[in-house]
Amino acid sequence: MSYAVFRVKPGGSLTGNIQVPGDKSISHRSIMLGSLADGETRVSGFLEGADSLATLEAFRAMGVEISDPQAGELTIRGVGLNGLRKPEKPLDLGNSGTSMRLLTGLLAGQQFDSELVGDESLSRRPMSRVAAPLSLMGARIDTASGGTPPLRIGGGKNLVGIEYPMPMASAQVKSCLLLAGLYAQGETAVIEPAPTRDHTERMLRAFGVDVVSEDSRVSLKSGQSLKAGSIDVPADISSAAFFLVGASIARDSELLLEKVGINPTRDGVIQILRLMGADIQLENERKLGDEPVADIRVRCAPLQGIDIPPELVPLAIDEFPAIFIAAANASGTTRLTGAAELRVKESDRIQVMADGLKQLGIKHRVQQDGIEITGGLMKGGKVNSHGDHRIAMSFALAALRSRKSIEISDCQNVATSFPGFVELARSAGLDIEGLPAS
Ligand code: S3P
Repeated sequence: MSYAVFRVKPGGSLTGNIQVPGDKSISHRSIMLGSLADGETRVSGFLEGADSLATLEAFRAMGVEISDPQAGELTIRGVGLNGLRKPEKPLDLGNSGTSMRLLTGLLAGQQFDSELVGDESLSRRPMSRVAAPLSLMGARIDTASGGTPPLRIGGGKNLVGIEYPMPMASAQVKSCLLLAGLYAQGETAVIEPAPTRDHTERMLRAFGVDVVSEDSRVSLKSGQSLKAGSIDVPADISSAAFFLVGASIARDSELLLEKVGINPTRDGVIQILRLMGADIQLENERKLGDEPVADIRVRCAPLQGIDIPPELVPLAIDEFPAIFIAAANASGTTRLTGAAELRVKESDRIQVMADGLKQLGIKHRVQQDGIEITGGLMKGGKVNSHGDHRIAMSFALAALRSRKSIEISDCQNVATSFPGFVELARSAGLDIEGLPAS
């Protein structure tokens, strides 16, 4: 069920045990690599959200047989590295930047032409960051003026490997180039300015590809086939983040979040919240395939404002909307810098969060690459999420500490990453009501 508006009553606490849906990044990659593998790949814990389903449909449109997901389980009949077929129509990737950027790399190595389109938000997002290095590899990618979608990708090019120092810390750009590298002559290498999520490297290795990571350099050589296997997707730390913040700020809360991915390239939110004074314990740490997971226990604790260490920014890049709500409920001021990437996410997350915080009466100062937020009493009021799933969910949890209700509009995209959010949040103690689009 997807809702246009969230109405959330103030107060309450979060308690009990919950499991948030599967990791979005890993779900995308499971479809992509499973499709390119030889043999059948079984996936469990798959995120049945609109973004990862857009990836699934794109591969079906290229001739891959993928069963309908049932409670997160599906099977992919891999077609091998060279078995994809030309799609009949442009591939519509909806709201999903990950689908578009990773697919661009993969499609640049195919024998057929293809076209990628997206919704209004995706159609505003920068794609030159993948088109430019792929062109250096010999690909032909046409974008709209301004470097945005739709993308037209010319097939039948002979790609050559390059060594590419990435101008920004981006796992999508890294993954795009590694996927193109499977088809490029020789070695393809990327050099990261800072560590970013390494799910592509881990999963490629699990499929038998030799990926070399040395300090900030990640490389692979072409001519390697992928072997099918099974993938168990952890619960998404990015979805858990809303509840980590909610339980930290709401009096008398104690929540256990089960089977959450705690990959060290994703755990910035835990590190930042702990620096702010949050009471977060990892229990039952274990491995799920190639990814570390834990049950995370979080209890309410007084939070203090901090200067967010810049090296943690790429490790928490999707969690800042939630972290801003923690900052609004901390004593003192929290300062974020070095986060200009937030301006080119599903929305301009610095400005859209700042506008929402203003509605709630929270003092802040916007900078080009960050924000300063001074904790205070949140009044409640009306907030526009601008179709950004993570902003909608962050303001929903904020109501746990607001004086009056918070009403959030343009929430339908919550279904891109967190189907069942309203129901799960309600079961944990949030007084939330979802209203369908009228
Ligand atoms: C993702 C990488 C990040 C992140 C996005 C998912 C991925 O984007 O924000 O939600 O799955 O590789 P960037 O690579 O643009 O930082």
